Amino acid sequence: MHALGIDIGGTGIKAAPVDVATGQLLAARQKIDTPHPAVPDAVADVVKELTTSFSWTGPVGITFPGVVTDGVTRTAANLDKSWIGLDAAALFGKATGNQVRVLNDADAAGVAEMTFGAGVGEHGTVLMLTFGTGIGSALFTRGVLVPNTEYGHIEIRGRDAESRASEHAKELHDLSWGKWAGRVEEYLEHMEALLSPHLIIVGGGISKESDKWVPRLTGIRARIVPAVLLNDAGIVGAAMTTVSTAAPDTSGATGTGH
Ligand code: BGC
Repeated sequence: MHALGIDIGGTGIKAAPVDVATGQLLAARQKIDTPHPAVPDAVADVVKELTTSFSWTGPVGITFPGVVTDGVTRTAANLDKSWIGLDAAALFGKATGNQVRVLNDADAAGVAEMTFGAGVGEHGTVLMLTFGTGIGSALFTRGVLVPNTEYGHIEIRGRDAESRASEHAKELHDLSWGKWAGRVEEYLEHMEALLSPHLIIVGGGISKESDKWVPRLTGIRARIVPAVLLNDAGIVGAAMTTVSTAAPDTSGATGTGH
């Protein structure tokens, strides 16, 4: 089965058609800058443009950088607040003219990594973390996802963890690899104390340079491995969730706004 995967991020919106049985992209992915302000109609226009550029008809899976329950976006820490409470699945369904599933970006990346990447064959507790504009999280045990964990927002030193340890924070404060890795390690120590994972998969754009920071995380007992699918994980996971067995069940969950 083939589906179009679209990955909405704080800086770019990426898309490609995907063979969901193999995780392979069926065409080179395309990327368009995220509009500013990233209001729903402007983002929907980009989603429409990407769908049209692949002349796509068929199922579409879309990631969103916030809590998503049953197609409704519930939080928007790094996008415009007008997303909160919006029926994003309906908005994108109209924009693409196709049936659409929407899910959290880190959940999508995690599902892809567990199926085709660094989490293959891992049955214990796996914590996938994506370091980008924010910090996204996806939690698995026996390969099953607990959707919409928001572990980027635990409090460390009185602040939101992602404001200290995301890739964006590294750039914003011009932190050296050593300084930033120290912050990541402090964050992972908290996560390890709370979840006792067997494996931590680190993803997001900065995982491309994992050799510069992962070896510095010496105080963490869990194995830490970089994501394998790198920048394609969100696209692949988005496409996969159009197949009902891979879709997290979030119906009836209310979510919260922050
Ligand atoms: C959002 C999460 C998202 C993460 C990565 C956080 O600010 O709250 O839902 O997964 O950023 O984009």
